Order: sequence, then structure tokens, then C-alpha cells
Amino acid sequence: MSTPTPRPGILDIDPYVAGDSDAPGAARIIKLSSNECSLGPSPLAVAAFREAGEYLNRYPDSAAGDLRKAIAGNYNLDAEKIVCGNGSDELLTLLAQAYAGPGDEVLFSEHGFLVYPIIARFAGAAPVSAPERDLKVDVDALLGKVTEKTRIVFVANPGNPTGSYLPATEIARLREGLPEHVLLVLDGAYAEYVTADDYSPGGDLVDAGDNVVMTRTFSKIFGLSGLRLGWCYAPDAVVDVLNRVRGPFNVSGPAQAAALAALADSAHTEKIRAENETWRAWTSKELSALGLEVASSVTNFITVRFPNDPAHNAEAANAFLTADGILPRKIANYGLPGSLRITIGTESEMGELVAALTRFMEAS
Ligand SMILES: Cc1ncc(COP(=O)(O)O)c(C=O)c1O
Repeated sequence: MSTPTPRPGILDIDPYVAGDSDAPGAARIIKLSSNECSLGPSPLAVAAFREAGEYLNRYPDSAAGDLRKAIAGNYNLDAEKIVCGNGSDELLTLLAQAYAGPGDEVLFSEHGFLVYPIIARFAGAAPVSAPERDLKVDVDALLGKVTEKTRIVFVANPGNPTGSYLPATEIARLREGLPEHVLLVLDGAYAEYVTADDYSPGGDLVDAGDNVVMTRTFSKIFGLSGLRLGWCYAPDAVVDVLNRVRGPFNVSGPAQAAALAALADSAHTEKIRAENETWRAWTSKELSALGLEVASSVTNFITVRFPNDPAHNAEAANAFLTADGILPRKIANYGLPGSLRITIGTESEMGELVAALTRFMEAS
């Protein structure tokens, strides 16, 4: 008997490691490991989800028509250029599958989202990374890595796990510097948190040509990670491709219903954004006062660099916090072994985090 073997390259993939959600023995858990929305979704979204439970015998709307119209209205986009997916992860995967293959290269930056190398390899393409500068995507470094084999460039803007962003002018300069046949995918998973005037998630660039796609998600500010719902805004030809290859019912009915209600509850979204700003600023200030290096962030998480000494390094801090039921994310696999990524939680969660790290840093 011989075991069926997957395509070459599949077994080179390092599986994605999700953030911890459990700490055996801890009295309570504060999960700060997956950049979820700590305040939870809109109550209206939860009610819509429950109501949708009455119709579980029916297939969902394959085209997600109402939801695409609502997204278009909310973000001032063209509904015909929107495709919804089972999380934005699904859309990123389908783009890699459809536009890259064996012999091709897929480009991203040094500390880029770890899904990018996974989906590049899954497509049979070679993942290529370009160095960042001071935890920021470096447009010149990316352009320097482009070859005639490059098919896709993935840029998370803002970045995960860095929390930094590039202004619209830099993203436009990247697009201008890329050959026309290269698809630029702008991953705006954290776009709703950004308030900087010079930021754009990239819808305007999508409209301006045929080779930019913007991906977005309901997993972050809308607090619907558990439902798996993302969307992309893409040129007509890319929309056509995605609609040929996606599963016909890739977004469940309850997910569509909840997302429609979440979009309509702009007061809730605004509250989440404001709370996040308040507690991100407070936590960053408090942790800096402890002597930790907190990278400037425009998102719902911060990346914190710990000292090198074994008693106070990132590994020790992770163990200390986890024993206390507070779960950050280790990011050695993102090339940042000296740092932890910490999601911004509620006021009381951030109070407990700062108190725990104060004890940790004061211990000799
Ligand atoms: C940069 C980035 N892109 C995409 C995603 C995936 O989001 P989704 O839940 O929509 O699949 C994440 C999730 O953490 C992310 O950090």
C-alpha cells in the first residue's frame, strides 16, 4: 500500500498557529492573543444571528446580495466589485490559487501576516520576503525584490504584528513601481481602527486600475471573528475569477444577517474605535513607563519589546502572563523573538495586564 502524496511543496508548509485561548489552572482568562474585539459585537448583530437560526434549513444567498449592497453603501464603493468570503483568509487563499502557481513568486514584507507564505506555498509558488525598516513596510525593499516571476504582492496595511501603517502616497508609489501584470493585494483587516488623515485602505486604487485588490474583514472592529466573514473590493476581471472558484455558499446565512446588523450599528463601531484608542494610548504609556519598548500602533494591538535578560525577556514575560491567565501572542515566528503582541482589551483587562507586567518587571 502506498500513501497518497500531496503536491510538491505542501509538506513544506508550517501550519498556522492560532493564538492561545486557554491557560490550565488560571482562575480567569484574559485573551489578548488573536486581535479580537474585546467589547464584543453589536447586540443587534447577536440578535440578527439568533433570528437567522430559524432558517438553518435554507441555503444562504449565494451572492450575498444584500450584504454587498450594505457594504457598498457603508464604504461608498460599487457593490458589483465586492465579493464576500469565509473570512478574508479565504479570499486571500483564492487570490493566491488563482493568480500564482509553480514557478511564480509571491512577495510580502519581512514581518508580514503568516498566512501569506502558507497560501503562496499552497498555490505551488515561492514565497519571497522583503526587509522592513523600523517595523514598517519598506516600499523600496519590496520593489527591489520584484522579478519577472512575481505574480502577487501582499501588503497588510496596517501591518500585523507590527501595528504600523503606510500613508496612501507610499502605497500609490508601490503600485506605480510594480509591473502591470503584478496583482497588489492590500489587506485592510485593521483599516477601521485607523484615524490618520493620510491613510487609505486602497478602494481608490482598486477603482483606478485593473491590478489592485483590497481585502477587509468583519473579524476585527465588528467583533464577528467566530462567524468567519470577510470581503474584497476588486476590479471586474478579478471579481469574475473569484466568483468562478469560490464555494457557491461560502458565507453562511447567520453570518450575512449578523454582518448586516453590525454594519448598521455605527454607534457601536464608533464606541469600539474610541475605546480602543483610549486603552491603546494608556497601555502604551504605562508599559513604556516600565521600560518596555512599545511600537507605535494604529490598530487594536501593540507589539512590545522586552529586555534581553533571561528573567525579563519575551519568553519569560509570556510564561509569567500565561500563568496568570493573561494570554498575549508570541511572535518569534514573525521574526520578532524579543517581542510579544498584545491585543487591546477592555479597561479592566488592560488594568490587569499592566499590573501583571509591573510585578513581572519589578521581580529580579
Ligand atoms: C493582517 C490580517 N489579515 C487577515 C486576517 C484574517 O482575517 P479573517 O478573520 O477575515 O480571515 C487577519 C487576522 O488576524 C490579519 O491579521
